[in-house]
Amino acid sequence: MRSASLLVALAVAAASSVAAQDPFAGYSCDPSVCKLPSCRCATKDAPVANPPQFILLTFDDAVQNEVWPQANGLFSNRKNPNGCPARATWFAQVFYSDPLLITQWYAAGNEIADHTITHTSPFTGTYAEIEGNRAYMSTYGGVPRGQIRGFRYPFLNYTADSLKMLQQMGFEYESSMSAQDNDAVWPYTLDNGPVNDCLGLIGLCNKGLKVPGMWEVPLYGASGSSPHLMDPYNDPSITAPASTSTILNDLTSTFDRHYNGNRAPFGIYTHPIWIGPAVPPSIPDGTGKAAMVRQALDYFMSKPDTWMVTTYQLVQYMRNPVPASQLASQPYMQCTRNPAPPTNICNGLSTTGFETCNLPNGTIRSCYGCPESYPSLSNPVPNRVGSKCFIPDTCDTLWWDSVACKCLCTDASCAWNDTSRAINLDPSSLTQSSKPGSTGSGSGSGTGSGKGSNAGSALESATVATAVAAAIVAAYAVFF
Ligand SMILES: *[C@@H]1O[C@H](CO)[C@@H](O)[C@H](O)[C@H]1NC(C)=O
Ligand SMILES: *[C@@H]1O[C@H](CO)[C@@H](O)[C@H](O)[C@H]1NC(C)=O
Ligand SMILES: *[C@@H]1O[C@H](CO)[C@@H](O)[C@H](O)[C@H]1NC(C)=O
Ligand SMILES: [Zn+2]
Repeated sequence: MRSASLLVALAVAAASSVAAQDPFAGYSCDPSVCKLPSCRCATKDAPVANPPQFILLTFDDAVQNEVWPQANGLFSNRKNPNGCPARATWFAQVFYSDPLLITQWYAAGNEIADHTITHTSPFTGTYAEIEGNRAYMSTYGGVPRGQIRGFRYPFLNYTADSLKMLQQMGFEYESSMSAQDNDAVWPYTLDNGPVNDCLGLIGLCNKGLKVPGMWEVPLYGASGSSPHLMDPYNDPSITAPASTSTILNDLTSTFDRHYNGNRAPFGIYTHPIWIGPAVPPSIPDGTGKAAMVRQALDYFMSKPDTWMVTTYQLVQYMRNPVPASQLASQPYMQCTRNPAPPTNICNGLSTTGFETCNLPNGTIRSCYGCPESYPSLSNPVPNRVGSKCFIPDTCDTLWWDSVACKCLCTDASCAWNDTSRAINLDPSSLTQSSKPGSTGSGSGSGTGSGKGSNAGSALESATVATAVAAAIVAAYAVFF
């Protein structure tokens, strides 16, 4: 147990802020063919006049006690302009995560997205890793599989084939590419390929990649003293980071450029291990970094029309964009569930009724019983010990009484029917299955399949920068 349950896996992808070439060179997308809600061409142009400023706060890797307070400490007391709680996204891996915390994160209105089972290098964008995560998060973690809509690649390492596979699996968005000033486009669909990371090691621009209907929500980097993407407080190097005031200045000045410019979303992307107490031997005390991030978020949220949303809320917005003045009334921005869910069952809202599972690899907790062994890549959902019930397709977490095995929702407004692609650990099922619907009742429309087109010339007028780009993707995982 002890520190064995602590995982640090981090991706430092310092894409250069000085992209030398026009990211739109060679990109071709016809907006009269590629239309909302299922298709959007990549562009820096805002989708409507006077859009809101969106802030994405994301956490990656294991959802566990050791980092839970750090994550919640950044946003749990914040409110959006409509008075509802600020929201965040956790790209959660299976290994070392505590299913009870997954349930609590979801129940609080935040998002759980897929980040594989093992998070091992060099590459985990495989069917078994991704589907196994969906399987585990929905059974022991209690997140309806139809609510697991997005994916981030460990080490931000993606491939064309894996991106296409994500779409076949029913994912609605991908969030691994980086967007610096030069290519800070609003989220778009990959019907006509990407315009981000063009100069990086992966570089799929102008390679004929087409992933219809798949939203790309890039990580928006900051710049200034050095380029930043994930864990900006560790730049330019983990062992010798700049002062927190320098990083704060980079974050606020980049925010200002977004806010006063095209209002493309901005974000802070963390591995929360870095913003907690020291974990010898290699994690220094991060409490000052956490304070700095809170200051940055205070600044962002002090500006009118700035909203802290989950990645999927942003995707819902992109499908049907409205001016800032109309955001508060959008269904996906509402505060609470109606009717109010009960708090006397194990549904993530209370701390009653969970089981503690002492497994050889460590202790996990779940509302849905204990697995007989620790999850693994080959067996992500081990059989359950005991008599609790998993959530069925026709009930949402908040209303599922896993002891009585009964759905307590009796109202149409809380009814849920999960029509997303059924879990199937056999990769050959992908080619056999029909096109997934990828939602449940009460949620937004599915991705559909917008048609791309080569007609017309590149959408954007050229903004040619001059410097030479160097993209560095350094990735390392440290298991304690
Ligand atoms: C990214 O994945 C490829 C395989 O697709 C692998 O060869 C490469 O080493 C990985 N890069 C990193 C930084 O993990
Ligand atoms: C769990 O323990 C087994 C046996 O020691 C080991 O093979 C496996 O890698 C461990 N899994 C994790 C996630 O640590
Ligand atoms: C849920 O949706 C499926 C597929 O559309 C349908 O066959 C089923 O009858 C629905 N169940 C309920 C309880 O609405
Ligand atoms: Zn990760």
